Amino acid sequence: MEIEGKAAVVSGGGSGIGRAMALALATRGASIIVADIDEQGGQQTVQLVKEAGGTAVFRRCDVTHTEDLANTIASAAEQFGRLDIVCNNAGIGGEDLFGDEPGDWKKVVDINLTAVIDGTRIAVREIQKRGHGGVVVNTASMGGLLPMPGSPVYAATKAGVVNFTRSLAYLAEQDGIRVNAVCPTFTDTPLVRRSGDDRVEAMKEQVGGILQPEDVAAGLIDLIEDDSRAGAIMRVTVRGGRDYAREIRP
Ligand SMILES: NC(=O)c1ccc[n+]([C@@H]2O[C@H](COP(=O)([O-])OP(=O)(O)OC[C@H]3O[C@@H](n4cnc5c(N)ncnc54)[C@H](O)[C@@H]3O)[C@@H](O)[C@H]2O)c1
Repeated sequence: MEIEGKAAVVSGGGSGIGRAMALALATRGASIIVADIDEQGGQQTVQLVKEAGGTAVFRRCDVTHTEDLANTIASAAEQFGRLDIVCNNAGIGGEDLFGDEPGDWKKVVDINLTAVIDGTRIAVREIQKRGHGGVVVNTASMGGLLPMPGSPVYAATKAGVVNFTRSLAYLAEQDGIRVNAVCPTFTDTPLVRRSGDDRVEAMKEQVGGILQPEDVAAGLIDLIEDDSRAGAIMRVTVRGGRDYAREIRP
């Protein structure tokens, strides 16, 4: 699908990978709804898009609230007269499942998995209404394809996003809606930096370095522009660049 002239919603657009996605889409001529709970970060993204000559509007949205999410996705059509691309990207880490303070691991499930399912459901129905097809891209993680010893709940949510996305390949033929996912390894964003310098160095060692948010955004652009991709799981890694995870067939 050509991106020029299209309208997109990017959740978690106020920081890191979501900000890079919003910028990559806007510089290719799409109009963006930057959706985030963080108003300051979201407004900064809008400012960056405008400085780059693009069009973006901030919308405060908590993806765990269905009504909020539905209104936000619908607002693309109100603002820009259409809806073509939805990036369900908002996500968190931060669990310590077996610690004295296990963290709110259920919140990790709510944001990283439940809200991605809800965002996809709402996006598909909105795009179906318009009848011109579209693309949904879910931000999973390499942690959805490999074990993450320290972050088992995070890994479970991302594995859920991977197989949820794979299971929706049929929507391409049925409605012209392609649902894909991107699986990056560690990426230099506030989410990763919050885990501390030592952990970041250990992660870099493990996977051969750290991606930049723009590397992941480049994967998003491929997934949108390549009309053959539906239910596709793109890996983005420092060592291997961008490639597609193969189906495991029984
Ligand atoms: N950074 C990495 O190493 C890495 C690797 C693989 C996948 N990911 C995934 O990429 C996505 C983006 O992460 P990031 O690294 O850019 O993190 P980040 O912390 O920089 O950005 C996440 C954004 O999501 C927003 N957000 C959090 N909860 C929200 C909610 N309930 N409603 C709306 N917005 C909410 C935050 O305010 C923030 O702006 C996440 O899904 C994450 O799991 C990150």
